[in-house]
Amino acid sequence: MHRTRPIFAAALIIAASLCIFARAGAQTSDPAWLRYAPLNHPLSVPTRVIVLGQDPVLRNAAAELERGLLSLSGRTTPNPSSDSIVLGTAQQFHARRPKAAIPSLQPDGFLISWRDMPLVRELDIVGGSPRGVLYGVFALLRNLSQGADMSHSGLREHPALPIRWVDQWDNADGSIERGYAGRSLFFEGGHVRQDLAPVAAYARLLASVGVNAVNVNNVNNAAQFLQPQTLHELVRVADAMRPWGVHLALSVDVASPKIIGGLPTYDPLDPAVKAWWNAKVDEIYSLIPDFAGFTVKADSEGQPGPASYGRTPADAANTLAAALAPHHGVVLYRAFVYNHRLDWRDPKVDRARAAYDIFHPLDRKFLPNVIIQTKEGPIDFQAQEPVSPLFGGLTRTNQAMEIEVTQEYTGQQRHLVYLAPMWQWVLDFDLRVGGAHTPVQKILARKGLGGLVAVAGVGRDHWLNSPLAMANLYAFGRFAWDPSLTASQIAVEWTRQTISRDPNVVAIVAKMLLESWPAYVDYTGPLGMQTLTDITGSHYGPNIESSERNGWGQWHKADPLGVGFDRTVATGTGFVGQYSPQVAKLYESAATTPDNLLLFFHHVPYTYKLHDGQTVIQYIYSSHYQGAAEAAEFVNDWISLKGRIPDSLYRNMLPRLEYQAGHAIVWRDAITQYFLKLSGIPDDTGRAGHFPHRYEAEDARLTGYQVFDVNPWEDASRGKAVTCPIPAGCTAQFAYTGREGRYNLAVQYFDLQGGVAHFTLRINGQPRVSWAANNNLPSFRPNGDNSTRYTAHQVELKPGDTLTVKGVPDGHDPAALDYLQVLPGTPEP
Ligand code: GCU
Repeated sequence: MHRTRPIFAAALIIAASLCIFARAGAQTSDPAWLRYAPLNHPLSVPTRVIVLGQDPVLRNAAAELERGLLSLSGRTTPNPSSDSIVLGTAQQFHARRPKAAIPSLQPDGFLISWRDMPLVRELDIVGGSPRGVLYGVFALLRNLSQGADMSHSGLREHPALPIRWVDQWDNADGSIERGYAGRSLFFEGGHVRQDLAPVAAYARLLASVGVNAVNVNNVNNAAQFLQPQTLHELVRVADAMRPWGVHLALSVDVASPKIIGGLPTYDPLDPAVKAWWNAKVDEIYSLIPDFAGFTVKADSEGQPGPASYGRTPADAANTLAAALAPHHGVVLYRAFVYNHRLDWRDPKVDRARAAYDIFHPLDRKFLPNVIIQTKEGPIDFQAQEPVSPLFGGLTRTNQAMEIEVTQEYTGQQRHLVYLAPMWQWVLDFDLRVGGAHTPVQKILARKGLGGLVAVAGVGRDHWLNSPLAMANLYAFGRFAWDPSLTASQIAVEWTRQTISRDPNVVAIVAKMLLESWPAYVDYTGPLGMQTLTDITGSHYGPNIESSERNGWGQWHKADPLGVGFDRTVATGTGFVGQYSPQVAKLYESAATTPDNLLLFFHHVPYTYKLHDGQTVIQYIYSSHYQGAAEAAEFVNDWISLKGRIPDSLYRNMLPRLEYQAGHAIVWRDAITQYFLKLSGIPDDTGRAGHFPHRYEAEDARLTGYQVFDVNPWEDASRGKAVTCPIPAGCTAQFAYTGREGRYNLAVQYFDLQGGVAHFTLRINGQPRVSWAANNNLPSFRPNGDNSTRYTAHQVELKPGDTLTVKGVPDGHDPAALDYLQVLPGTPEP
């Protein structure tokens, strides 16, 4: 019996590898960090793979390992050595070698160790379960892909958190709420898609970083997903992900018993409602036996909830949890519960308080298979927020932290913003519960069911659209596995696997990644002001007043004298008092609050001095200029990689980074000119509100173009721009007044949805360049969402030259133009 295993196993390897290559051929998706680029040195492990069993996850692990090893070694067939890698669960290894000491492993844990025999060496990958083996395989491949020598090393790991989920906010019609990478991998036209190869490929990517479940549908509008027909269709989705140990989960609407069940009520304590949920959950498990569980958004942003019946989140969560418990399913109940019709005139009202006020009193009231899922900050995925105090406020309840990979408020993947440093800061933040060292990661990893959940927004367009945005998906998975990793370690790991192992390339890419979030904070919303974006719309470009004087509660409270939200116990909303005394003490006083969160906790005059002696207003000006300069530097960093990274990647990212540098200027100018006007305090260095070498479109000689007031005003240079109502086109003519020389000419225009306007730049009547306004930017109105620039490089200019921009509208895009700017000339990259 013992001796026949390898032969049997070899047959399995071939079958499994055929199956994986068939799957690989069927899907066209980007391999992301699973490139397994050939090494320039011999592989330090055998390529012969033996698998001890038939479990589909185990077989898949073997196939993945073979595929990875062949690719890394640049071979097409395993090398002839008799050394091997053996894969199996602890139980299987025990059966194989009853006398050997096999360690006890957690189900998702693994041990990789060498066994040296007289003539052969064997590398054993032992898992606590088949999925543990799969994770071991990916860990080995991750190390090898980075160039590590594994010839004498082993690994032993297990995940810190049992709940490692991604949430997709996909709708049945194929759209994705807050998704910026095309349409859903899962759905189209109200049904599960026919071609689920991309779903399997997504599950493979997720499994490679240890993610164990995907919730496939939007937290809003979820009721229809529990219809029998949809559940039947979802079986195929679960099947596609299962070989990767990734389970299916669903968002549910707590009103489902009424909406689709035909009951007169959805009161979670009503016996008929409980019976409905029990039957529905049984139906799900009869179709999908390894179903992971439910995510719930209730009493939030218009979603129905238990409050309609005077019930608590615990009542609703426990009804669902009781139905799921016999099947080992879980409920992730979101703490994102708040009233979005708040009275902004009442200085004591504060959205940031909501989660703690509602959930803290319910601690201990949840069943053991309920997990409270809380966004990392108390508001909503802003560029910078403090840590949610609720993590410290629930000591007897399972908790998961929700983060956003999809860059809803952080540049929507058009901006490079590597979020791992922010997540690391949150995971490491010491909430001092009971006066003891209590970093958030320790709370999540407490005994029971803790987790890290990412809203992913992955779609059909190269997963996240931008190649560098994939570092966020990778980082999320790595943190969910091991929250003690650092953002910088993860950036290096990701770059080596995805782009290059060349240390110089790795250093530059990692630097760009690590500097990108601070830069974004600098040019969008520094000092804890949150993202100063269009709160009620796109969540993308600058729109500073959109958060004020409405019920949504994302107020920054800027007025002519000062800015910031007083959340102190002494004079404000009392939010600070939700933290443990030591943390509360830090935030209660403006003098001890770290500058980067000052305006989240305090309303201060513009002349208030920060810790470095700079005034708040001067910091606002300077940070925006600095942030925009850093964004421009990313372009130079990237150009320095030309020829050292794959050309397709180089060409893919360059225009994105150039766009970001231009949009960072839109942000910079919007915020600095807004606060200059509001405060009336000039920028010490004279930058804010002054735009040297800029030629405003409204001052040009216009033919056909009409001047209009941009809304919000701060989104255009001096608040005005020009728009063309004539289908044949309009022109704006400028007389160059600067010195003779070679320059870059930036044309700032608005690229609206609903049409592709065309522009031509002429110099002294001679056409120099033409371009189409065909970027996919939000909004049908000219504003900071779609203000963008085209740069003509190395243009020779002398005083008196005529510069003419012709714009030809198309559809809803009126070829609107803001200004022309003369910049130091750099050659075209
Ligand atoms: C944000 C986001 C919504 C989403 C909500 C949530 O407000 O803009 O689209 O539904 O968060 O987390 O439920």
